[in-house]
Amino acid sequence: MANLILVLLLASLCSVPVHALQQLRFDKKGEFRILQVADMHYANGKTTPCLDVLPQQVASCTDLNTTAFIRRLILAEKPHLIVFTGDNIFGFDTTNPVKSMNAAFAPAISSNIPWAAVLGNHDQESILSREGVMKYIVGMKNTLSELNPPEVHEIDGYGNYNLEVHGVEDSRLVNKSLLNLYFLDSGDYSKVPSIPGYDWIKPSQQLWFQHTSTKLQRAYMNKPEAQISPAPGLVYFHIPLPEYASFDSSNFTGVKQEGISSASINSGFFATMAEAGDVKAVFTGHDHVNDFCGYLTGIHLCYAGGFGYHAYGQAGWSRRTRMVVASLEKTDKGVWGDVKSIKTWKRLDDEHLTAIDAQVLWSKMGGRRKKQIGRL
Ligand SMILES: *[C@@H]1O[C@H](CO)[C@@H](O)[C@H](O)[C@H]1NC(C)=O
Ligand SMILES: *[C@@H]1O[C@H](CO)[C@@H](O)[C@H](O)[C@H]1NC(C)=O
Ligand SMILES: *[C@@H]1O[C@H](CO)[C@@H](O)[C@H](O)[C@H]1NC(C)=O
Repeated sequence: MANLILVLLLASLCSVPVHALQQLRFDKKGEFRILQVADMHYANGKTTPCLDVLPQQVASCTDLNTTAFIRRLILAEKPHLIVFTGDNIFGFDTTNPVKSMNAAFAPAISSNIPWAAVLGNHDQESILSREGVMKYIVGMKNTLSELNPPEVHEIDGYGNYNLEVHGVEDSRLVNKSLLNLYFLDSGDYSKVPSIPGYDWIKPSQQLWFQHTSTKLQRAYMNKPEAQISPAPGLVYFHIPLPEYASFDSSNFTGVKQEGISSASINSGFFATMAEAGDVKAVFTGHDHVNDFCGYLTGIHLCYAGGFGYHAYGQAGWSRRTRMVVASLEKTDKGVWGDVKSIKTWKRLDDEHLTAIDAQVLWSKMGGRRKKQIGRL
């Protein structure tokens, strides 16, 4: 009997989800590095051809090139978290969505780096529903993805959750979330007959975001180690917001080579984020040949650019990815403080994984200086 209880106890310990054991935190160098993989469009692996590559590349190119690209990036960038922002698989062409997901996420899983995913509009096009796809993802190894927030009973979509990034081990902010990551399901297609086109982030999801942001800000700015302003937040989902159309080449970094395929109506989520006050940047995919970041009233709106080879793209224009690195301040006394800056760049799938378009998305000093100028 005692043995049986021991076995049951061990079994239940082993089935504890990885996120119960593993808290994301800044590393000993005061850095947190996020690799964003947008639109893998994975299908069946080595039998799936590439789209929009040069004529001489067609014969040797398959989904395995998408896999090889992630593997090289993991080695080069050593991310602490990999975020897959939807259209991870291209459901329409997959004969087996489980096999397809296993192969698509394999580089992340075998690297033992925690990873998170949200859904795009193509993930459910095979035999699994959106709920089925997200449930499968949540059960995969090393993922921090969640089906939906446990405290909310009714919420639209699958894969709305947040992750906290805590301070450096053994530092005074070890138990505080210094960087907040929000993940939302931006849906697939409108279910409202009078509204054509893509889906949007619904009031139920926005309410959850608002509550979560408020709760995190309160915890951060209260004892112990009460901070004076909210921790920066980053938001990841698939379909861009209509506000992505606010820019042109005079005020964005990167390129825009196609239209902004947002929902045809405005959900108000941009205003919700601006009002919350902690969000510094939003990262989406969906439009594979747009890869810019533009700045609108306190928030950067960024694309990652298309990653996968079985996704439309532009022949001769490298598949790419977006890195984000948040860095902590080191105080005069030599102890780690809060987030000092958030930087981003892209990496191209060429011989040298060329890094382009490096920019600072947010800096604590920039924020302060602006406030001082405002007061004068
Ligand atoms: C795809 O991978 C193969 C095998 O490594 C390689 O020869 C080919 O150049 C790659 N194609 C592209 C477009 O990167
Ligand atoms: C952080 O939390 C742990 C566990 O609750 C506690 O033992 C430790 O003293 C806390 N450290 C700080 C610096 O607040
Ligand atoms: C970007 O510049 C264009 C003019 O070139 C202007 O119409 C637009 O409002 C600007 N966008 C932002 C967000 O400043």
